[in-house]
Amino acid sequence: MIVAITGQKGGVGKSTVAIHLASEALGHGMRVLLVDADPQATVRTWSSVAAMAGLNRPTVVAMGADLHQPGQLPELAKSFDFVVVDGPAKLDTVQRAMLLTADLALFPCGPSAVDAWALGDVLPTLQEARRIRPELDAAIVVNRVVPGTVYGRQARQNLSTAGLPVLRTVLAQRITYQEALAAGKSASTYAPSSEASREARNLFNEVFERLSPQVTPPVASAPGNAKATTTGPRPGSKKTPGSKKKKVA
Ligand SMILES: Nc1ncnc2c1ncn2[C@@H]1O[C@H](COP(=O)(O)OP(=O)(O)O)[C@@H](O)[C@H]1O
Ligand SMILES: [Mg+2]
Repeated sequence: MIVAITGQKGGVGKSTVAIHLASEALGHGMRVLLVDADPQATVRTWSSVAAMAGLNRPTVVAMGADLHQPGQLPELAKSFDFVVVDGPAKLDTVQRAMLLTADLALFPCGPSAVDAWALGDVLPTLQEARRIRPELDAAIVVNRVVPGTVYGRQARQNLSTAGLPVLRTVLAQRITYQEALAAGKSASTYAPSSEASREARNLFNEVFERLSPQVTPPVASAPGNAKATTTGPRPGSKKTPGSKKKKVA
């Protein structure tokens, strides 16, 4: 399953969401590929910090505008249970390539109506990709909600006008996300009992459920100990976390 984190605005949390989804999947013992498709290379920098600290981390590769071509990501993805692609902050050939490959496109977005307006520009690109691949699912992730504010509580409603479904899970503005990434970690490995960790876990569960409604994610490991996990389908399920194959363009 391939999740593309996209949108044409910078600083909305694409890399933060990408790294947290990948890290949560890793915590479930999945084979995780994190594709850095952004020249800013946030994911690659984060991965280098994690490597220097000797931390468990997903496989990270850099890919560009040809990532959707045969022999590229569609081929590579077969060796992984969960693939996340972190996209650039502009509407270009890389974003199109991501949408031509992903099962689910996520659009992180700030909580205000103004943030929602900025999403309007991506809809034509999404529609274009869906003409080729009608099965492409897409949703908004609300990020940077200020906890305890009325405006924050209204964020999902504000964004529902943008023309895309809005995920139930909302990420708040939390310093833990920034500190975790700076340490080469995710919220769950940096501060396992934090609110940010709970949000990241909920986000992964919701995304996984959206991708594979029949499958429960494998049991999460103790934080920071991804190897101690078991992967496998829910008892009675015929599917495995990596079994949902989609046609690629
Ligand atoms: N929920 C959040 N709480 C606090 N800081 C955040 C949150 N989401 C993103 N940030 C911070 O905002 C900045 C931009 O986030 P980033 O994920 O790099 O965005 P993008 O990839 O869309 O450019 C980073 O410094 C990141 O740590
Ligand atoms: Mg980024």
